[in-house]
Amino acid sequence: MTKEKPVVAVVGATGAVGREMLKTLEDRAFPAAEVIPFASSRSAGVKLPFRGGELTVRELKKDVFAGIDLALFSAGGSTSETFAPWAAGAGCVVVDNSSAWRMDERCPLVVPEVNADALEGHNGIIANPNCSTIQMVVVLKPLHDAAKITRVVVSTYQAVSGTGQKAIAELETQVRQLFNMQEPDVKVYPYRIAFNCLPHIDVFLDNDYTKEEMKMVNETVKIMGDANIRVTATCVRVPVFYGHSESVNIETARKMTPQEARAILAQAPGVQVYDNPGEKMYPMAIDAAGEDDTFVGRIREDETIDNGLNMWIVADNIRKGAALNAVQIAEELLRRDLLGVGDRNVFERK
Ligand code: A2P
Repeated sequence: MTKEKPVVAVVGATGAVGREMLKTLEDRAFPAAEVIPFASSRSAGVKLPFRGGELTVRELKKDVFAGIDLALFSAGGSTSETFAPWAAGAGCVVVDNSSAWRMDERCPLVVPEVNADALEGHNGIIANPNCSTIQMVVVLKPLHDAAKITRVVVSTYQAVSGTGQKAIAELETQVRQLFNMQEPDVKVYPYRIAFNCLPHIDVFLDNDYTKEEMKMVNETVKIMGDANIRVTATCVRVPVFYGHSESVNIETARKMTPQEARAILAQAPGVQVYDNPGEKMYPMAIDAAGEDDTFVGRIREDETIDNGLNMWIVADNIRKGAALNAVQIAEELLRRDLLGVGDRNVFERK
């Protein structure tokens, strides 16, 4: 039996996503008895605003999780790998925003609008998908249910906030330096990001795809629960602060007209159709930033194949792509009374 009001930890609370997690818990009046922020020793003692007052950041250690019911992690993969098993072992349920646990068979990978049932039978670590994958599957799942998607070709245009606070600062600094005729400092990305596009997100793998691209391929199949969907991706970092955009081409088993797709998506949870070319109406990153919904527009037939559609999908990568999705998972866990359950000894504590 879950406590009515859980004690909640935010791990990585000083980061771009961690700060948004605190804001989202506050905005959605998440029924937490207490919220405790954690980060590295560098940030211990830092004050963060919350519910009209301030929270004091504590240093993350392996033994801090006793008495904490739920922990939202966004502190990078290696921190999650080390600390999430300790949290789960202490009886806490972890919702982890890193890629560390996403493809682990013991961990559900969840977008609540798409596969909330996967939360049943969790073992204490639940993975929050990659930001680009979340916004894509929210739109594709209702179309898949209606016409069976067989193939997806996606190209992304991803904001720098997905890389964290340091990347936000780097784009700001580079823009200022370039306007002052100075050589821009390049630290976070391999090349300048200001007024540039980088077809390189995360590391390159043996197949010449990036890890970000393969996350979209593998995570989409796991979340949609259909191994027959073939996905290919090109992921590009663009000089935008907030909001990922995606050009998505789908092939379906039966023909679906743009009108039918629009009608289905108009009913889909968490989706807004924003599609009227005659009125120059299409979603843009500047509209999606700060919003909870995923926006879709430019829906049109792919005239090169029998059953194909093209579309443009945009969402706030820090909200739906990370913090909001994690908090929605937490809300679903409460609704289903799924805190304090599961076999907590399946993950090795190192
Ligand atoms: P800190 O601010 O103390 O470095 P971002 O993705 O925006 O860069 O944020 C990363 C978040 O993860 C920050 O809150 C950062 O804390 C936290 N973090 C990074 N490494 C660790 C660690 N080893 N232990 C705890 N928190 C960490």
